[in-house]
Amino acid sequence: MNETFAKDVVAGLTAKEKHLSSKYFYDTNGSRIFQEIMNMPDYYLTDSEFEILSLQAKQIVDAVAFDKPFNIIELGAGDGFKTFKLLEYLVNEHIVFNYVPIDISQEAIDILSEKLHERLPELSIKPQVGDYFEILNEKFQGNTPNLLLFLGSNIGNYLKDDAINLLKLFNNVMNSGDKLLIGMDLKKNPITIKNAYDDKEGITKRFNINLLIRMNRELEADFKMDDFDFYCYYNPETGRVKSYIVSLKKQTVLLKKLNKTIEFNQNELIWTELSKKYSLSEIEKLAEISGFQTKQHFLDCKHYFTDSLWEK
Ligand code: AVI
Repeated sequence: MNETFAKDVVAGLTAKEKHLSSKYFYDTNGSRIFQEIMNMPDYYLTDSEFEILSLQAKQIVDAVAFDKPFNIIELGAGDGFKTFKLLEYLVNEHIVFNYVPIDISQEAIDILSEKLHERLPELSIKPQVGDYFEILNEKFQGNTPNLLLFLGSNIGNYLKDDAINLLKLFNNVMNSGDKLLIGMDLKKNPITIKNAYDDKEGITKRFNINLLIRMNRELEADFKMDDFDFYCYYNPETGRVKSYIVSLKKQTVLLKKLNKTIEFNQNELIWTELSKKYSLSEIEKLAEISGFQTKQHFLDCKHYFTDSLWEK
């Protein structure tokens, strides 16, 4: 049994306001559902970032401006679909670098490595499977300059203080002059944002309900899927999308493996995810608090998303 998962589930479901961390979405099935989300036309984040990395690879590399061979270290590389365009540009320009994709999923890393060997045979790739934090420390030793990639609006899933702590942790392991390219979703027409998360096909609902399936499997719980629904909303004043699982009736759920029962009232919520949207000035403030200097923002043509380049 995954002890941390069990402990977090009990803490989250016995809290006054029930909550579960969105990091638990990503079991094998959840990672596949997330791929489906990224392919939904309304989930504009993927296309926007793909456009930035495809059309502005040269501008990004020029702004990074390393004058000797460097490492590109990517956190949560996943299938590497977006990063491909940046790597392709560098390889075609015969710029010397190592690509170090890091992901917790062995499956994702295997698929990525195979695809890259096939499509960019000259690329020097040193994949790593495991928890970012353990790997990061060792990666920044030596005097090779580093470009750290944290793309896909992943930072948006962290609460403010947690985001600052994570960015400070990056800053601590990085060397002076190293760069961070961070993908952040921008505040925009609230309807566009709502449609990306509250999709008609119910894929995001499945993504959330999969957490109940995971608890049934790993903790021998007896959640009945039909007794729960999904709800999310966007607050344009705070830039926060908040997602929830809703209990449709008063009910008791057993977590057999933990010998625990959880009571739900009708319409009671489990908060599952924060997806924060930023303004450019908020991004610059966040960079500063975390010890970075903002070099440049690279936006897509609709100004939906930014890959912002920060320097330590
Ligand atoms: C991984 N993360 C940046 C996604 C997001 O947009 O917050 C996860 C997601 N949740 C629902 N749709 C996508």
